[in-house]
Amino acid sequence: MNFKVPRGTQDILPSESWKWQQVESIIRDVCDNYRYKEIRTPIFEQTELFQRTVGDTTDIVTKEMYTFTDRGNRSMTLRPEGTAPVVRSFVENKMFGYPDQPVKLYYQGPMFRYERQQAGRYRQFVQFGVEAIGSADPAIDAEVIALALDVYKRSGLTDVKLVLNSLGDSESRNAHRDALVAHFTPQIGELCSDCQSRLEKNPLRILDCKVDREHPLMETAPSLSDYLNEQSASYFEKVKGYLDDVGISYELDPNLVRGLDYYNHTAFEIMSTAAGFGAITTLCGGGRYNGLAEEIGGPSAPGIGFGMSIERLLLALEAEGKSFTQERELEVYIVTLDEKAHRKGFKLLNELRNAGVRADMDYMDRKMKAQMKSADRFNAKAVFVIGEDEVEGNTVQLKNMADGSQETIEDGAIIEKLKEQLK
Ligand code: HAM
Repeated sequence: MNFKVPRGTQDILPSESWKWQQVESIIRDVCDNYRYKEIRTPIFEQTELFQRTVGDTTDIVTKEMYTFTDRGNRSMTLRPEGTAPVVRSFVENKMFGYPDQPVKLYYQGPMFRYERQQAGRYRQFVQFGVEAIGSADPAIDAEVIALALDVYKRSGLTDVKLVLNSLGDSESRNAHRDALVAHFTPQIGELCSDCQSRLEKNPLRILDCKVDREHPLMETAPSLSDYLNEQSASYFEKVKGYLDDVGISYELDPNLVRGLDYYNHTAFEIMSTAAGFGAITTLCGGGRYNGLAEEIGGPSAPGIGFGMSIERLLLALEAEGKSFTQERELEVYIVTLDEKAHRKGFKLLNELRNAGVRADMDYMDRKMKAQMKSADRFNAKAVFVIGEDEVEGNTVQLKNMADGSQETIEDGAIIEKLKEQLK
């Protein structure tokens, strides 16, 4: 029987995983600079958590969730996103009582959506996200956006743009909702059956329908920006002001509505503008979600955050023709010529590692030539060769791979000599 990796998922092989580690370390570094602390929540949650927050008319909830009944007959769902679980934890652990508000959190881990597989779209993907919960200061909207852009900058990406919109508060959104209903009702028969049911339940979701994207009614649909009340408009002006102050440029897109129901006020996406990046150009999406904590039984705690897929970050780097500096290379490879030498080599290997040297040796009982070839492939800077003479004489041969020179070294002086050579 032939087993394959499930559709929409991928193995991250050693030839790629070192790049993931580089991104992860950049993420940790940047979050540390901005004082965001890591939170780890479970991979699955009660299904209702996502229904209530992401919204039960969204594509995510209606079509994409991995939902199962557990043995206790509870409906559980593999998390499709990170915000609802983090806010659930914020409420459950009473983080609203922490002395330092807002609470600034970040997370990174697999998310699951049953989507049609294509370049940059997976059924299991890794999302890095941050959530700043407890403040309605427009400056923190700008901080969160700056953090996302910093991660891309530190990864080496340059071809990115920030797209911005405001979804306003609930009064603004209700006014817009009425306008959408008036706009779509006369010709609703021309749209897909999902859109027809969205018209009543949540007309905003019609605007991100993947089926009717090209329909002329979409283009002429009333834009949220025309329905912002004074308070919402003024909040948005302040967010833009903070971004201007720190030199972050953005494009305004009144049609950016985001595919999750919990958003209000600031909504943003960061796109790749690299030629050759696939059809899906969104690298990162986020926004403000005042009211979400209350929605799940907590006190009022306004929040903002974003999520970005690591897969897409790496694809964007590739599309820009950039790569991380090479994986850290091996410092020492030990070549042994018989069984006694192998024992001595293994002991030496252990000492080297204890001294913090990146070292390895052959475990396949191969000829010297093949072992030297491995040392070359691993780009080892130095090779120790141990044969019968070296075992008897309490020495090793140290070969400098840069200039090919070779010298005999007493056992007691190995680490010292090696450090000299590695300098
Ligand atoms: P989202 O727009 O659904 O928002 O997803 C955010 C990001 O996750 C996307 O921009 C993309 O990078 C990545 N992503 C989503 N689906 C896939 C997929 N099938 N394959 C690969 N990558 C994908 C959220 O999830 C919100 N929780 C973001 C947020 C946090 N808003 C506030 N705080």
